[in-house]
This record gives sequence, structure tokens and C-alpha cells, in this order.
Amino acid sequence: MADKPDRNLAMELVRVTEAAALSAARYMGLGDKKSGDKAAVDAMRAFLQTVEMDGVVVIGEGEKDEAPMLYNGERVGTGQPPKVDVAVDPVEGTQLLALGRPNSISVIAVAERGSMWSPGPSLYMNKIVVERRAREAIDIRATTTENLHRIAEALQRKVHELTVFVLDKPRHEPLIAEIRRCGARIALHTDGDVMGALMAAIPGTGVDVLMGIGGTPEGVIAAAAVKALGGGMQGMRAPQKDYERRALQETGQRLDEVLTADDLIRSDDAFFAATGITDGPFLEGVHFDRNGGVTTHSIVIRALSGSMRFIKGVHQLTRELQFGDAGTDHAVRIAAQ
Ligand code: FBP
Repeated sequence: MADKPDRNLAMELVRVTEAAALSAARYMGLGDKKSGDKAAVDAMRAFLQTVEMDGVVVIGEGEKDEAPMLYNGERVGTGQPPKVDVAVDPVEGTQLLALGRPNSISVIAVAERGSMWSPGPSLYMNKIVVERRAREAIDIRATTTENLHRIAEALQRKVHELTVFVLDKPRHEPLIAEIRRCGARIALHTDGDVMGALMAAIPGTGVDVLMGIGGTPEGVIAAAAVKALGGGMQGMRAPQKDYERRALQETGQRLDEVLTADDLIRSDDAFFAATGITDGPFLEGVHFDRNGGVTTHSIVIRALSGSMRFIKGVHQLTRELQFGDAGTDHAVRIAAQ
């Protein structure tokens, strides 16, 4: 038996998502996706430097040429062990933030080096996510109807008592029609399927299942949380663009391969942290308080122990760490926390 408790890296990672959320939150509703994202990226990068780890970004803001920071392959952390893979989404739901809609979050997942699945040219993935009790019931190759009946049985509920989180996209018209025929309830969201996966994997959130096609990188990030929570997840590449289909073909990636949470994150030593930017039913967003303080709400999950923490942070934005458009009202000064 170890003579002292070991370290929970996620407790440090939450400072990173808090900083990103604090910086991005000023841009809520301003209709400017890029500036909000940039402020979050800058803050996330600065705070990542303080985390004791030797990290490589496996899922970042894109390739080096398009993304000056947090690009795939970038080294992050202090460079000290542990060696880890890092997946970031400084603003998951950039449009939600730009329009002031619920559920935009800042998120990070970290797992042992070499254990995080790299999406390569895959941009879109079909996903199904459920909580622990229904993990053996799902089969992404089966019909939606079959899945919903099996999930309902595993959860000891009726199909019409299930709520399915679906992204509101034209590609999902047949999926939505089939769910409706089954009689299950649908929660339609324009964006943000990492939040959908998180809610589906945690009992009692009001969402029982996530279904449908969303981003592949978002799928890997969600897998870290689902795995840590012991939930069930399956994904299949589901290219939506011709160039994506071609790239998958050229690199020999199979469209019929079923990827589970264990395939997407091949280590039990994984961490997940997310901080709300805009308010949502599951995670509150950043609140600028009247007395000058700012409150954040985060969730922190560790796979090894299965621990899940909800962290409310009260911050004083007084010190000189500034992110966002310097000199404007949107710039945020973050105390060194
Ligand atoms: P962004 O924050 O990058 O805009 O992603 C939001 C999101 O809704 C994800 O949650 C989802 O996985 C993906 O976009 C779906 O992509 P698309 O909007 O192209 O269908």
C-alpha cells in the first residue's frame, strides 16, 4: 500500500479551465466567436505552463500553421514527469458563447502518454453515450429504436421516460424522427456535444443518452470523462465532407470500426476538467458579481479513483495577468489564483 495519497492532476488542470473560462466569459453574446476563443486559448496556454507535467497536445486548436497556440504536437506543462497526452477545447461551443446561449464550457482532458486516440483526418464521429448501468446495452451498429429499448431496460425505465441529447443539425432529421417514433423525449441543442456526453454519463442530470454525429476531437475529450465515470460510449467515424472522406480513404481509416471509450483513451490514468462559461442546466457559467469578484463552476473527474468534484471558485480579478483585447472592457485580469 502506498504510504501517502497520490496526486490528482485534475485538481491543477481545473485552474487552467477556470482561467480560460474567465477570459472567454467577457465575450458572451458579443457575436464574436474568434475573440472569445483567442482569449481562452491565451489564458489556457499561460496556465498550462504552471502544471507539473510533460504534456503533448494531441487534440488542440488545429495544426501549427492554422493555430499559433495549443496546436497539435505542442509541448505544454513544466516538462517534468508525468509524460501525458493532452486534449484541449478552450471554448467548446464557440457559437454558444458568441450568442450568449447555454452550455459553452472550457475543457481539458489528460491521459498517460501514448494512450489518447488521435483523430487524424477524421472530423466527424457518430456517438452514443450512456451512464454506467446502461453501458453494456448500447450497440452503435444497431438501430436507434433497438438502442433506446435496450437502454430503457437497463435503466429500468420506459422508453418514453428517456431524454436523448441531440445536436440540432439537418443531418439528424432521420435520427430525430426515429427517436420521436419511439416516444423518447429529445433535448435539441445547436452545439456542445461534450456537455451532452457528460450529462448522459452522469445519472440524474436530465439527459439519459447522447446520440448523433458531432466532432471527432470532441468525442475523444468526452471519452476521458465517460471512461472516468464508468459510463458507456461508442463512436464511429462519420465523415460529412468530401475532402474528409477522401483523406480517410487515403490514410486507410475504416468507417466500420467501432471505437469505445477504452479505445479512445487507452489508459485508466486519465483526468478531465471543465468550467462553465455560459450558464447551463448542469454547469453554471462565469458570474461577474456586483462586489468585483467573479465566480466559476467546474467539474473535475479522475479515472483511477472515479472521483468527481464540483468546484465553485471565487476569484478576484485584480492582478496583472491579462487576457483578451488589452485595454478594452473585455480584457480580463486574472489573479494568480
Ligand atoms: P465549436 O466550439 O468548435 O464550434 O464546436 C461546437 C460543436 O457543436 C461541438 O460540440 C460538436 O461536436 C461540433 O461542434 C459539431 O460540429 P458541426 O457544428 O460542424 O456540426
